[in-house]
Amino acid sequence: MKKIELAVIPGDGIGTEVVQEGLKVLDVIAELHGGLTFETTEFPWGCEYYLQHGKMMPDNGLDTLKNFDQIFLGAVGFPSVPDHISLWGLLIPIRRTFQQYVNLRPVKLLRGMDSPLKGYQAGAIDFIVVRENSEGEYSSIGGRIHHDTPHETAIQVNYFSRYGIDRTIRYAFELAKNSPRKKLTSATKSNGITFTMPFWDEEFKRIQADYPEVETEIFHIDALAAYFVTRPESFDVVVASNLFADILTDIGGAIMGSIGIAPAANINPEGKYPSMFEPVHGSAPDIAGKGIANPIGQIWTAKMMLDHLGEHDLGEKLLTVIEETLLEGIKTPDLGGKATTTEVGDAICDKLRRLG
Ligand code: NAI
Ligand code: MG
Repeated sequence: MKKIELAVIPGDGIGTEVVQEGLKVLDVIAELHGGLTFETTEFPWGCEYYLQHGKMMPDNGLDTLKNFDQIFLGAVGFPSVPDHISLWGLLIPIRRTFQQYVNLRPVKLLRGMDSPLKGYQAGAIDFIVVRENSEGEYSSIGGRIHHDTPHETAIQVNYFSRYGIDRTIRYAFELAKNSPRKKLTSATKSNGITFTMPFWDEEFKRIQADYPEVETEIFHIDALAAYFVTRPESFDVVVASNLFADILTDIGGAIMGSIGIAPAANINPEGKYPSMFEPVHGSAPDIAGKGIANPIGQIWTAKMMLDHLGEHDLGEKLLTVIEETLLEGIKTPDLGGKATTTEVGDAICDKLRRLG
């Protein structure tokens, strides 16, 4: 019997709506598996909490989370609280404290989806982005001076450490080595960013020597962004710094047909701390409360959690069921359908049960 203590943070906006569907699916997964249970504890942290308590989570929030096996999160941020406060008050402390230094974001054209790219059939786009998730451009080093004067100045320091680069790039090489196509693409901008990016590239080439079986390529981020649109079929594993991969994976979401279906996993590869599973999208204030958010991004993160737990067959079954739901046209409005968030979640649960 495998019991997973799961911390659930629905967060803000549509986060609360899609997480409920994800939990429903996990319940069915547990029913089907027999030997696997999820013991969930929900935490009401986020922007509402901030408005009441002046912080995004309690002071002992991270200590509380540390004792869980995994974290299932919806989205964080709402117009009621500045984004840099909400993000740095909840999401980023979790990623950093728990050394979730790899952020995995698959980009796959599912059956039943239409890509905005012409001529691509299901399966033709199928790669994964490995995002460096603990340093790089998202640093808290810097400051602002001369407030409210004409020479007000802001400085934010990018920092890249050998330790940080090495562990992420090695993770990406391992993924590529174990994939059928054995190909790894690295994003750089060493022509414009002349200290950190050449360092990233040199580390990439140094580590490459340990993986002779992996085919590699390095592209500047601007060209790579265009290739995501013009030849996405050419990618297998893509590794990039924190900011570059963040931007690339929104393009990834777009070419999959909607950011509403794109999943992500923040992984602590050593398993010393919980990993965190969350969709790529945010709280979507424009559609929050309407019951029309697409829950598939969240549900796909449950598949990533199953993979992380070593339950690959169940994970694949879940992805197949997601595809069958899409094929039947049970889709939310972002995919051109009329279904509600709950209807999509229910359809996926029903199909899972029927598949047994
Ligand atoms: P967003 O991803 O929330 O929304 C972008 C667009 O995609 C909107 O038009 C939205 O309606 C649509 N969309 C997103 N998810 C959808 C879904 N599941 N179904 C249907 N449509 C969906 O990004 P935005 O507007 O930049 O950010 C809104 C808030 O979310 C901000 O406070 C931001 O900081 C936060 N955010 C949080 C993230 C996280 O928790 N990981 C990631 C990105 C943004
Ligand atoms: Mg993003």
